[in-house]
Amino acid sequence: MENTQYSQKVMDHFLHPHNVGELPEANGVGNVGNPVCGDIMRLYIKVEDGRIVEARFKTFGCGAAIATSSMVTDLVKGKTLDEALEISNQAVAEALGGLPKVKMHCSVLAEEALRAAIEDYKKKEPKA
Ligand code: FES
Repeated sequence: MENTQYSQKVMDHFLHPHNVGELPEANGVGNVGNPVCGDIMRLYIKVEDGRIVEARFKTFGCGAAIATSSMVTDLVKGKTLDEALEISNQAVAEALGGLPKVKMHCSVLAEEALRAAIEDYKKKEPKA
């Protein structure tokens, strides 16, 4: 049967998202939008010695976009930049116990926001 319902984990992260808000001391920020639905995600990261030590997000979007934002900020903490770049949207969705097929595209925002934040950091810190 096709999975059309949100997992309990998705609901938990949607209703009680982790790491919401701005991160004034961020040294990398990624802004991405989904042109189809118009949802937008901003991801802040603080990198120290090549490792992401803090991450926050602000997302204007659907439940799946909020839940994947929350999960990606949890997943990246403590990771090196190279390890963080390996986090795919599938990995984020899997960590949430899966997403309905029609909502998989929402998890792409989380992956893109993470990549954009890392690129932004690298641009600002050319030695990294
Ligand atoms: Fe737009 Fe989910 S419907 S990100």
